[in-house]
Amino acid sequence: MTLSSVHIIGVGGYLPERIMTNADLEALVDTTDEWIAERTGIRQRHIIAEDQMTSDLAVEAAKMALLDAGITIDDIDALVVATTTPDMIFPSTATVVQSKLGGKEFPAWDVQAVCSGFVYGLAHLEGMMRAGMYKRVLMIGAESMSRIVDWTDRGTCILFGDGAGAVVLEAGGPDAENGMVGSILHADGSYRELLKAHHTHPKLSPEMHHQKIDFRIDSAGTAAVEMKGNEVFRIAVTKLGSVVKEILAKHELTDSDIDWLVPHQANIRIIQATAKKLKMDMDRVALTVATHGNTSSASVPLALNDLYRSGKLEKGQLILLEAFAGGFAWGANLLRWSK
Ligand code: COA
Repeated sequence: MTLSSVHIIGVGGYLPERIMTNADLEALVDTTDEWIAERTGIRQRHIIAEDQMTSDLAVEAAKMALLDAGITIDDIDALVVATTTPDMIFPSTATVVQSKLGGKEFPAWDVQAVCSGFVYGLAHLEGMMRAGMYKRVLMIGAESMSRIVDWTDRGTCILFGDGAGAVVLEAGGPDAENGMVGSILHADGSYRELLKAHHTHPKLSPEMHHQKIDFRIDSAGTAAVEMKGNEVFRIAVTKLGSVVKEILAKHELTDSDIDWLVPHQANIRIIQATAKKLKMDMDRVALTVATHGNTSSASVPLALNDLYRSGKLEKGQLILLEAFAGGFAWGANLLRWSK
């Protein structure tokens, strides 16, 4: 069997209108713009509107990616949403997105690997599409993390933001030189207590969510991200450093072969540590953490969208995507840009 090449043929992103700055957070918790910017690199984040759901963010990003690919939803034969903040426990957010986009009967499912969801989804789709299972797939990362953040916990609420990023993947075509090179995924559930959220958040209505932000209602007892920040930080730096080396070695490539690093945007210091490990200048790293914060599974496709829209990407360039997440689950994808 000849394996197909797999290409990104469309990219899109969407951020909700409302911006919450670090100064806004100073009014909510005992923190300062200076502390947040210095420890995380974050200056602001976007917050989902009361009448929006994760699927709505996903739909907007998907529409942009379809437009960019020059195709419509009728050309798609599978749809995957990576999300930690699904509209409901079930059905999957992917089926909601399919319906909102007017898609018909193709398979649609969610991937849950928290902040690594997009990297996980891309890895699985790469394998499926190489084997001929699907021709064109919408892969979306979409999150409303602000709905599961404890807005009284200064150690976590400063970190997260909402948004969605999407790509259209296509198998085959004449450009066999470019496209996905490969992926590596890892998980170690023995670390699960260090970063988690219990699963009561669907009980929170969007109205309650906004009351929590605006009136500081204590969200104890409802779903909230819990994190041992400095331990997560330390392990993230180590695991990301090793997975980027592992994927390069697997494909007989070296640091200097990489043109762009598109990292998960959790903390500028984690990103700098990975770039240093790869001996990469920061001007070859896609950075959105300052303006988006950590948008979990949306962060990698949003950063890719940002880099793509900047006009800096050139056909044939080697791009390394990486992410680290609760679980812990982490991984990396390598691809040669095809557009
Ligand atoms: N504003 C001001 N002070 C804060 C604060 C805030 N928002 N959050 C925590 N602090 C305080 C702590 O209470 C602590 O005070 P103490 O020394 O008096 O006890 C001090 O700052 C240091 O806290 P610590 O948690 O050790 O800070 P840190 O340098 O590790 O930075 C994070 C905290 C959360 C920014 C950092 O650990 C981090 O980014 N971790 C990884 C997060 C991550 O990537 N998560 C998602 C993975 S997908």
